[in-house]
Amino acid sequence: MHPDLQRRVQRYGWDKASDYYENSWKEQLKPAQEKLIEFAELKPGEKILETACGTGLVTQRIVEAVQPKGEILATDLSENMLKLAEERVNVNGDVRIQFKWMDAEDLDLDDQLFDVTLSGLGLMYVPDPVQSLKEKYRVLKPKGRVALAIWGERKQCGWADIFPIVDKRVETDVCPMFFQQGTGETLAYSLKNAGFSDIETERFSTVLNYPTEEMAVMAAFAGGPVALAYRKFDDEVKKQAHKEYLDSIAPYRKGEGFEIPGEFLVARAVKSE
Ligand SMILES: C[S@@+](CC[C@H](N)C(=O)[O-])C[C@H]1O[C@@H](n2cnc3c(N)ncnc32)[C@H](O)[C@@H]1O
Repeated sequence: MHPDLQRRVQRYGWDKASDYYENSWKEQLKPAQEKLIEFAELKPGEKILETACGTGLVTQRIVEAVQPKGEILATDLSENMLKLAEERVNVNGDVRIQFKWMDAEDLDLDDQLFDVTLSGLGLMYVPDPVQSLKEKYRVLKPKGRVALAIWGERKQCGWADIFPIVDKRVETDVCPMFFQQGTGETLAYSLKNAGFSDIETERFSTVLNYPTEEMAVMAAFAGGPVALAYRKFDDEVKKQAHKEYLDSIAPYRKGEGFEIPGEFLVARAVKSE
């Protein structure tokens, strides 16, 4: 897929997903977001860049970690996600916070500004993850830190069939490299290629709990990266796609709902110079 098309699919897809996102994913992503903040070891007063901030679930945790007197720039490619973040993030202490539209691969920022750059569940969506990491490296001060959380291996994520189910009903893949960085040592290599050292990663299992079929279906189709493609399906296509997805997660049925296995990968590294 051409990188510009991928960016458009992401930008407008997340605009469409924004109203469903927190109901679909807030609880499910919490373990990864908590681990990300733990890995980042944020300190009061630090200056932080967050890319792909979404509705601000990680941003809120950053506010609490850097107060008093920290500074945060929270950025995203979707105007609707950013707008929700701006409304929802509760700023306390003397923390200064700004929300800005920005592509994580092309940061409109000077070099060496931040103590820490971080991103929760964002790196899977950029067309060139190493370029996005190089940009993070560029805007970090010497000895600055990066922290990331992403989805892990495809085979550990019981919901992964959502991509082929949607892809075969549209002209181009919606998320071509979704599991690339979460596979094997890829993320550590990407961080190294971007210039980072002292790289540490940790993989851990999780369970996505959806109490009803409808919640599981809405999370997968409407609350995430395939939302733009899904909006174009007519009712019949939606019905078929829902059935196929429910069949794919059938092994994880628990009562009326589902407990779907997943895997997260977190990483941290340092700008050595
Ligand atoms: C799964 S959400 C994660 C949001 C938030 N970090 C969290 O943990 O809840 C993914 C976010 O990545 C953003 N995104 C996708 N491609 C991007 C890009 N190239 N640059 C910046 N943000 C991007 C989307 O707009 C969306 O808000």
